[in-house]
Amino acid sequence: MSREIIALASDHGGYDLKILLKSYLVELGFEPLDLGCDSSDSVDYPDFADVMADALKNGDAARGILVCGSGIGISIAANRYPHIRAALVHDRLTAELSRKHNDANVIVMGGRVIGPDVAKDCLRAFLNTEFEGGRHQRRIDKMS
Ligand code: RB5
Repeated sequence: MSREIIALASDHGGYDLKILLKSYLVELGFEPLDLGCDSSDSVDYPDFADVMADALKNGDAARGILVCGSGIGISIAANRYPHIRAALVHDRLTAELSRKHNDANVIVMGGRVIGPDVAKDCLRAFLNTEFEGGRHQRRIDKMS
C-alpha cells in the first residue's frame, strides 16, 4: 500500500519543530512533502500558508502541518482559504477535537510554545482521529 503524503510548511520560528515532525511522519509510515522554509533564516509566515493552500488545492496532499513561532500567525493566514480548516492545537485533546468536531485538514503548532513530545502526541492524534460528522457537519456547512 502506498504511503499517504502529508504536506508540511513553517516559517523560521517553526523550522526546528517542522524538521522533527518530518522525521516523525516517516517513523509513523507517512510520506512528508516539505514545502519550506529551508532554514532558520527569517521569512514571512503568510508565504508558507500560501504554499500549503496551493498544495492542498492541487491535490499534492490531502492533509498538512503548519508551524510558526506561536502557531497563531500561520493559522490565521491559512484559514483565509475556504478549502482549509487549520486548527491551532496545544495538546492531544485539542488535536483530537480538531478532527472529531472540526474536520480540520491542517494541524498547526507553535514551535516556540510546545515541547517535542507533546507535539508528536498532537500529530499522532490528528492523523489517527476520524471526523464524527452529524451535527458537526451541519456547523461546518454554515461556514462555507
Ligand atoms: C516570527 O518571529 C513570529 O512572529 C512567527 O513565527 C509567528 O509566531 C507569528 O504568529
